[in-house]
Amino acid sequence: MQIKKVGVIGCGLMGHGIAQVAAEGGHDVVVVEADARALDAGLARIDKSLKKLAQKQVEKGKLDADQAEKAAAATRLRIAGSLERRSVASCDLVIEAIVEDLDAKRALFRELGSLTRREAILASNTSSFPISEMGEASGRPEQMVGLHFFNPVQLMRLVEVVRAPKTSDEAFAAARAFGEACGKTPIACKDTPGFVVNRLLVPFMVQALAMLERGDASAEDIDTGMKLGCGHPMGPIELTDYVGLDTTLAILRGWVERYPDEPTFAVPAILEEKVRQKKLGRKSGEGFYKWEGDKRL
Ligand code: 3HC
Repeated sequence: MQIKKVGVIGCGLMGHGIAQVAAEGGHDVVVVEADARALDAGLARIDKSLKKLAQKQVEKGKLDADQAEKAAAATRLRIAGSLERRSVASCDLVIEAIVEDLDAKRALFRELGSLTRREAILASNTSSFPISEMGEASGRPEQMVGLHFFNPVQLMRLVEVVRAPKTSDEAFAAARAFGEACGKTPIACKDTPGFVVNRLLVPFMVQALAMLERGDASAEDIDTGMKLGCGHPMGPIELTDYVGLDTTLAILRGWVERYPDEPTFAVPAILEEKVRQKKLGRKSGEGFYKWEGDKRL
């Protein structure tokens, strides 16, 4: 199956980036948000990112200013915003990028199962929840895959393509080809908690937060340690701010509830406390650090 038209549900941190890379890959995209303010904010982020990437191509001498501007404008024209979920009815692939809440995702897939064409592929960008449960909710588990992108989607080169037990070979192959068309390197994974990357990354972030909680080292020193000692682009505390403290907490709570005997799944009290204070990281302007837009202060 060839994917030409893509629907993205959610135009937040991940959804706006997924819509953008899908359009950069030549697909027609409709991105759906629940309210006009969130939709406008997401589309404005896409505009900003396209401008930045065009500027980079000019700086690198890959395109002249006119070509870069035209390519960015052509990408943008392929993206339509909508406040109506039924706008995805004619899509070949619909990717869910809403809040990390399994009940909300199940309800969405139930709706998508009846809204979309029978041959359409349904995908979730979930970081942590079982793809099979969303597939069952849709009524079309053979058409369901995980397509897990990384933040910032425009720059991170990986996509995890998750195959649940009932996913068909055709749906899996089409999803993988879609990831490649978006300029990403796909890796295949079974429907296991956290897939490949988050299963390793999130417990690492938890250990860093536990270290901070115990007062073993400061946030700056933990981050500098992993950047200079291991060559990571960002330290684990800054990365928690970057991913979002609420998202990290939602991932961990889901895992602890489902797998209480897995010792690497734990919720650090310091994370709960910050979320209680509405300090959510980069998106709210403060988490473990203070932020101004994309810049850490
Ligand atoms: N679109 C276009 N350009 C962007 C951009 C975007 N979305 N985001 C950043 N840029 C640009 C910046 O403006 C900057 O441009 P400049 O060089 O002209 O100033 C350039 O990219 C580089 O950015 P920075 O100056 O901020 O510096 P870095 O070199 O540190 O790059 C980074 C930023 C790519 C985010 C890098 O720090 C990094 O790789 N960090 C780790 C990210 C990571 O681990 N992501 C995975 C998170 S886990 C996840 O997503 C899974 C989820 O399920 C939890």
